[in-house]
Amino acid sequence: MLTIAVSKGRIYEDALPLLAQAGISPTDNPDTSRKLILQTTRPDVQLVIIRATDVPTFVEYGAADLGITGKDVIIEHGAEGLYEPLDLGIAKCRMMTAARVDAPPIGRRVRVATKYVTIARNYFASLGIQAEIIKLYGSMELAPIVGLADYIVDLVDTGNTLRANGLEPKELIMPISSRLIVNKAAMKMKHQAIQSLINQLELTLNNQAA
Ligand code: ATP
Ligand code: PRP
Repeated sequence: MLTIAVSKGRIYEDALPLLAQAGISPTDNPDTSRKLILQTTRPDVQLVIIRATDVPTFVEYGAADLGITGKDVIIEHGAEGLYEPLDLGIAKCRMMTAARVDAPPIGRRVRVATKYVTIARNYFASLGIQAEIIKLYGSMELAPIVGLADYIVDLVDTGNTLRANGLEPKELIMPISSRLIVNKAAMKMKHQAIQSLINQLELTLNNQAA
């Protein structure tokens, strides 16, 4: 049996067509079912539906053999115990700095609010800027408005969320997409099944790109 960890929402929606190409279609809809384990059209594959930020944890500990999750989540979690064999090219967005439209340019010190502490710390350190990082769990856009921070580090897609709050994107930190991750021990123990799934997904991605 192969267990794949996926989060509800945009990653699930984007992953479904890819998984379907590998013959994997869930037999329940997670939006209408309360089930956390979904059987699929492949009797040897099941999905576990969990929070996006929990996917690397399930895979690291082998509670799931594979997972699909954002590069942002992988970096914040740390990649120990995980292989990352495929960029699935789904749930694409950008990790960016953002600030009020009238914000002065960053000097040698800056106060930054973010959910992405590791990414923010590494980014400002790479620029030689001393950053005081304030960890938030959401609604980062509020921070510059209420004077909690000068800048935020957040995911940006259309930019609508920033615009609606009087902020604008400033610098690109990195492009983000979702990746297939694999538990290292499972990769050895269930090599054939996992490698064949990776190959099927890779073929689908290559066909899409062609
Ligand atoms: P959790 O449920 O653990 O709090 P979350 O609410 O951030 O996580 P989602 O909003 O479903 O979960 O985001 C999952 C992933 O999708 C993110 O980690 C990121 O890689 C990607 N993502 C987030 N926002 C966007 C967006 N606006 N457009 C495209 N992809 C996005
Ligand atoms: C994500 C992200 C940004 C927003 C960016 O939030 O945290 O706030 O998308 O997208 P945009 O540039 O197209 O506006 P999401 O929609 O996942 O809501 P969340 O607060 O539940 O994470």
